[in-house]
Amino acid sequence: MAAKQIATPDIASQVFLRDPAAGVLALQAQGPLVRIRLPLIGRAWVTTTHAATKDVLKRDEDFRMTKAGKRPAGLQWWMPRSVRLLADNMLGRDGDAHRRLRGKVDRAFAKRGIEALEPRVAAWADRLLGPLAERREIDLVADYARPFPADVIADLLGVGAARRDAFVARAAGFADTSTPMRTLSSVLGTGGFVRFVRAMVGEARKTPRDGLLRDLLSDDDPLGEAELVSMVFLLMFAGFETTTNLISGSVLALERNPAAKAAWLADPHPRGIEELVRHVSAVAGSKPRFAAREAVVQGITVPAGALVMALPIAANYDPAMFDAPKRLVLDRLPNPHLGFGAGPHFCLGNQLARLELRVALQRLYARFPDLRLTDDRPAYHERAGHRALKSLPVRLAA
Ligand code: HEM
Repeated sequence: MAAKQIATPDIASQVFLRDPAAGVLALQAQGPLVRIRLPLIGRAWVTTTHAATKDVLKRDEDFRMTKAGKRPAGLQWWMPRSVRLLADNMLGRDGDAHRRLRGKVDRAFAKRGIEALEPRVAAWADRLLGPLAERREIDLVADYARPFPADVIADLLGVGAARRDAFVARAAGFADTSTPMRTLSSVLGTGGFVRFVRAMVGEARKTPRDGLLRDLLSDDDPLGEAELVSMVFLLMFAGFETTTNLISGSVLALERNPAAKAAWLADPHPRGIEELVRHVSAVAGSKPRFAAREAVVQGITVPAGALVMALPIAANYDPAMFDAPKRLVLDRLPNPHLGFGAGPHFCLGNQLARLELRVALQRLYARFPDLRLTDDRPAYHERAGHRALKSLPVRLAA
């Protein structure tokens, strides 16, 4: 069966991001994989069902991050050398090269260790929430959901107090890909970022501090300097904007469902977190892969060399897998969402993300139980890949 080549609906549009359930249905009407044009990437295939999304993510022999001897998927010829360096991280590698890098940090992100971080994560949330009490209205994105994960990652890495604020500020600027101009400026700013991380690593060598950076430096088979810089970059980048979007999207979803919110806050069970991850689908699209050879996915033939982006958002809103996918059902069970991806690149930080979300929500609502939206239809950044609210204005007290 050949796939249709119609470019609708636009997965980066406000319409799609506001109502993915309808958008996914419209995509599915064109087949389990469709060919569309993506900004900065060009022509690519995207998955439209749970089964196709899982297939592409799991079949890593067919769908690879790198084309033999060529640059990783998504990297453009015009991007500076520093970008190439940063992009050469575990998410951009396949097979043994990927396993080696992931093996260096797997243990640090395992469930038990991450759960032990709860008091520190809660302290970061409280530190941000304290000063907000003086204000009546805030932007939940800029004032809470954005700085919070940056603080948590800096802490986890063991970035010292002297560098922490600069790290958090640089991370915020760097992760801002909200418009093509800002993406370009963040791409062009990578040289400065690389120098900054090198200096940070140099300091950690001289004065080791508790944290992942020290563990990486004292590994029996330590990473090379370039690998270390791109690892720090990946951990920061992968865990930052994603978490911001997950937290802000969750507050929006909860505020629109007050009864479900009240029941969950009274008993904040893990099922609620899974449902929020599904419903928000903060990572709407995966990193693009190359088809290493001609591959058939759910009856659709993808030619060798084609770019393919799996859409977790399509999996998460697939009515064949989830009853009434548009509804937020906080005790939905089972909930086989693909919000953290699947296969060898399954989100390394999934336990941390779950912890951050739960703690961020619990601390926020404990301090501001009367929080209300002041804009019922906030807008998303019109991008494929991330489902990111531009802002979320809220009133903190009744
Ligand atoms: C908060 C919400 C988060 C969501 C929704 C999310 C989602 C994802 C998804 C879908 C992937 C797979 C990408 C692909 O296959 O192309 C991924 C990979 C990854 N995530 Fe997350 N993530 C989140 C938070 C985090 C955090 C907090 C960290 C760590 C600090 C993290 C670190 C990573 C890394 C390192 C990878 C690449 C893993 C590999 O290549 O083996 N993520 N994430």
